[in-house]
Parts: sequence; structure tokens; C-alpha cells
Amino acid sequence: MTQSNPLRAGLRLARTPAPCTLIIFGATGDLTARKLLPALYNLAREGLLPNGFSLVGFGRRPWSDDDFRAIMRQSAEEHSRNKPLNEEVWRNFAEGIFFVGGEFGDDSAFQKLAERLASIDAERGTDGNRLYYLATPPSSFDDIIGQLRHVGLNRSGANPAYPSGWTRIIIEKPFGHDLESALDLNQRVGRAFDEDQVYRIDHYLGKETVQNLLVTRFANTIFEPIWNRRYVDHVQITVAENLGIGSRAGFYEEAGALRDMVTNHMMQLLTLTAMEPPVRFDSESVRNEKVKVLHAIKPLQAAAVDRYTVRAQYGAGSVNGEDVPGYRQEKGVAPDSRTPTYVALKLEIESWRWAGVPFYLRTGKRLAKRVTEIAIEFKRPPLLLFPEIRDDIQPNVLALRIQPNEGITLKFGAKQPGQRMAIQAVNMDFRYGTSFGVAAPEAYERLLLDAMLGDATLFTRRDEVEAQWSIMTPILDRWKEQNGTPLAEYEAGTWGPDDADKFMQQDEGRTWRTL
Ligand code: BG6
Repeated sequence: MTQSNPLRAGLRLARTPAPCTLIIFGATGDLTARKLLPALYNLAREGLLPNGFSLVGFGRRPWSDDDFRAIMRQSAEEHSRNKPLNEEVWRNFAEGIFFVGGEFGDDSAFQKLAERLASIDAERGTDGNRLYYLATPPSSFDDIIGQLRHVGLNRSGANPAYPSGWTRIIIEKPFGHDLESALDLNQRVGRAFDEDQVYRIDHYLGKETVQNLLVTRFANTIFEPIWNRRYVDHVQITVAENLGIGSRAGFYEEAGALRDMVTNHMMQLLTLTAMEPPVRFDSESVRNEKVKVLHAIKPLQAAAVDRYTVRAQYGAGSVNGEDVPGYRQEKGVAPDSRTPTYVALKLEIESWRWAGVPFYLRTGKRLAKRVTEIAIEFKRPPLLLFPEIRDDIQPNVLALRIQPNEGITLKFGAKQPGQRMAIQAVNMDFRYGTSFGVAAPEAYERLLLDAMLGDATLFTRRDEVEAQWSIMTPILDRWKEQNGTPLAEYEAGTWGPDDADKFMQQDEGRTWRTL
């Protein structure tokens, strides 16, 4: 489509936020370099950032604006999906980049920040609109939020020259490490910001394919009638990664797979799959329905944790033909670490739609390949009509491939050509690549833009985070009680521990999908 297409022009106009300043705390860190800056540059390149858009990095380094610009340029060059860098776009964008150096606990640094923001408002026309981004480890959240409150930068209309200016804050995961700490964090955030100012980011919600789950379900008529216990046998959600923990041992040792992937990303995939149609497509209606799903998940008591969860850690092995060390040999990991890098679990949703339909979740590092998928496996036909078919015929499966090779596949049985009655499973495929032929934006692009626009639909609400932790905390508590028992190991480059297969097998002889 060309730029002059009126529909596209209309959409572009509707999706351009008001002029504003984004302030990143943790601007010298990895997330800013790898994800945030490239996303902002891509938005600039697509003409989606407002005029006067400004970016202020706040961090401990003694950098000048120009130092920060040079480092940001490097990260756009390395990590942007639009290469090579467009010099004109970059020049315009870089004019709005600034750096304020200081410690998170230092009053005077935040005063300096307030002055800088006021001068940006005056010089660049950002109208007192501010979006903070906490891209630091959670240990710094308290200081930053406390200081913003202390200098009055937490309120909307913080710049008296622009009383209708808005103030919002994006908070990166992890939002606590169990229910108690999540409640506590929410309370502390709530002392400085109203809930409608708070945007808890889960980048899985920014993925095109995750948003397409809602479109598949609610913009079509053929799926919804069968999307329930009458037709669905079970659901499998897989988030497999072939990478190890890289240089993140410090973080990962404390987190482990359940906190790192299941509590947030996988619960988002589950709630979007299981939710009822919202009354409207707005932030409150959508999030209400997701929270209802979380509330309907049967809590796992200690005995159920033992039966319905599997955890393990990767040992040495080979991934893509390359030898890789085991988790305990990774730099920064304790040699006797018990942190699970693989988790499988079964959850049940006690609702009229889903009663009796298990949801199986599995995720792990250093698995055979990187693939994220939601598979709806349907019940078998009530009777087998074809006497020549001895074997059980394979069930229908609707597989939503979140990444990579994004698409949707419907598996069904077809008659093999010939005189005999033989049935073979075949696939009907939709592929984003072939159907649309354009690269999808990165998750952070969508989410940063939504936060600037004040649309919180794809962000996690306070009660949602708390409900996620209510489900996960009993599991973590039970595991903690079992600290003396050995932790299973799986070979890097495989599909996880044998226990995970046994666990499925014991549940009516089911098996994990081969991906
Ligand atoms: C992050 C986790 O939130 O998500 C990482 O902390 C994980 O451990 C990453 O690798 C996965 O994201 P993606 O977009 O690559 O699937």
C-alpha cells in the first residue's frame, strides 16, 4: 500500500501520540541498548513518533548528551530491524536525545531531571507529557519511585506551565518474586501513581501473533463454537528456547523458569486462549476477562504440586551441533544450584467453558529448538466409522505458532488416495510470511507506542499480577520445602527431562507435541 492511501493515512494519524518525553531509568543497561532504543528508532523511521518526541536517559555514568547519543546510535545500528541506519531519520531523532547523570537515591539528581524536563517542554513542545520507564533491576524501583514522588514528578500536570500534561510509568518485570513481594511492590507504586498511570510491561503481549490470538478467536465465527470443553480435549502451551542463560546468571539464579517465563509470559498466553469474549475491546474489558480466567484456575495444593509439576535443570549437551556447558557450569551459577531451567505443569480452569480440559504448559532453556506455540487438541470422533482403520486416528489440532515461522496450522485427517481406506493427518497452513510479506514490528515498538497513546490493553493490571502470583506462589513454596531432594537433569539440546514425558503419559496417555 502506498502512503497516500487514505485509510492508511487515517490509521497513522490515529496512532500518533501527543508530543511527549520518555525518561528511561537504567538507560545504560542491556534492555535499553537491545530493545528500547531500537524500538524507538524503528518508530521514528515509520513516522509514528510525535513531533518533538524526546528521550532522556537517566543513569549513573558521567555521560554527556553527545556520549549518550553515540551509544544509542550504536545500539540502533546493531539491533534495529531496519538496517542500515537512515541518516536523516537518525539526525532528527538524535536531536531529541539527552542524558542526565546521577544516583537513583540522590535528591539533587532528580531536581536536575525536573529542570531538564521543564526545559525540554519549553524548547521541544512536549507539553508536560512524560512517560517514565523503569528498566532497572527491581532493587532500584523503590529509590526511583520515591524520588519521583519527592520532587513531584509523579503527578500528571507536574510542570505547572502545562497543567493538562500527563505522566505515566512503565515498569519492567519482574513485578515481585512471590505474592507477598508483588502486593508490596504494587502498594509502593500505588503510593506514588494512580493505577491508570501504571503500565506493567510483558513483552509477549506486544507480539503480533499474540494479539492475533484475539483476532482469530473474536473476528471469526468458526473457531468460537468449538473453543470449549465439548470439543477440546486439552491445550498445550510450549515456550521452548535453545539458548542458555547467557550472562544473566545473577538474575536467573534467583528467578528460575517458573518466575522468569510461566508467571508472566505463559500466563498471558493462557489467559488470552481461555478468556471469554470481552464486552468491548478496551483495556478494562479485556483485562477483566483475563483476570477472571486467573481466578478460575484451581490452586495447586502441596500434593497437587508434586503430581502436576515437573522441574529440571539442563546438563551439558549439544545445541545446533555445538557443545554447550550444563547450567551449573555457567559463569556465575552456584556449582550446587537448584534453580530449575525447565518447568512443565498442568493447570485446570474451573469454569463452564473449560471444566475437565487440562492446560499443559512447558518451558525451558537449552531445549532442542526455539519455538513458542499454543496447540488446541480436539477430542476424537465419537465412533470410528471405517472398519478397515485399526489404529486410532489422530486428533484434530489447531496450532497457533507464536514464533518463529509465525502462523496457524489446522491438522485433520484425509483419505489417502487409493483403493484402500487409509487416513493420513494433513495440515492446512496460514503463514504470516507468505500471506502478508511484511516484517512485523517488534513487541517493544507496539508497547511503547501504546503507552504513549495511553492504551493499557496490552499491559498487566495490578490485580492481574497479583492473581498470577497467587497461582505460582504455592508451587514455589512447595518446591522450597523439597530443597533436600535431587533435581532432575536433562541434556542440553533435547526436549527436556524424561519425567515430563512420563507426567503426560500418566495423564490419559497423552504426549507432548513434536515440534
Ligand atoms: C524474557 C526472559 O522475559 O523473555 C528471558 O527473562 C527469555 O529469559 C525471554 O529468554 C524470551 O523472550 P522472546 O521474545 O525471545 O521469546
